[in-house]
Amino acid sequence: MSVSIKSAKEIDLMREAGRRLEIVHTKLGEFIKPGISTKDIDRYGEELIRGLGCIPNFLNYNGYPASICVSVNDEVVHGIPRTDHILQEGDIVSLDAGLIYKGFHSDAARTYGVGEISKEAQQLIDVTRESFFKGIEFARAGYHLHEISAAIGAYAESFGYGVVRDLVGHGIGTSLHEDPQIPNFAQKRRGIKLVPGMTLAIEPMINAGRYDVCWLDDDWTVVTEDGSLSAHYENTVLITDGEPEILTLNTMR
Ligand code: MF3
Ligand code: CO
Repeated sequence: MSVSIKSAKEIDLMREAGRRLEIVHTKLGEFIKPGISTKDIDRYGEELIRGLGCIPNFLNYNGYPASICVSVNDEVVHGIPRTDHILQEGDIVSLDAGLIYKGFHSDAARTYGVGEISKEAQQLIDVTRESFFKGIEFARAGYHLHEISAAIGAYAESFGYGVVRDLVGHGIGTSLHEDPQIPNFAQKRRGIKLVPGMTLAIEPMINAGRYDVCWLDDDWTVVTEDGSLSAHYENTVLITDGEPEILTLNTMR
């Protein structure tokens, strides 16, 4: 396993990749409403990414056929946008997006309610987001990777939620997926020691019910086995000498 350490110049490019992706996510968030199709979200997202002079890194990644992963309700991640999948009031929708700027990748996900949603659904979204922030309290030089994983998992599990085991976060840089893998639950091994200049995509995927997931016949869409709702929240994070820097969440906290 080799974890890349970015130089000051590379960090500047990662920052810019992150900043541009944050703009995309903010606009996509404003676009969500009942009646649009999941394909509408993908089309708009691709247009935004290209409009910013960037390349959608998910498009054709291992054959993935879209620029934005759109996952509704019991879909955990990697939902494939479709013209006949229309968002309904009360749905929750996870948008996972990424781009390449001058050779450097960024990756981030948000989960939104469509119109009015249940209190239970809102809590799942809020806890998933909060679990990311619990995790990055340990995204500091000198800590070990497992402390991030354990903090995310412990927080989500304290609400009785299922923390997805089969998918993990990852290092990111000149490739979308680099070492190390970053699970969202406690590990038996402490994992790598964090060093300034590492860039990590930390991405809790949390189910309202059990943690088990399965794959649909399209070979991409991951769904909860028990049919419960699932939420996803992700940012690209830089390890520094001090506080972690959230590259995909700077201006609009
Ligand atoms: N954020 C997702 C991940 O880290 C990226 C989706 S990859 C794609 O796995 F192939 F679905 F595009
Ligand atoms: Co990711």
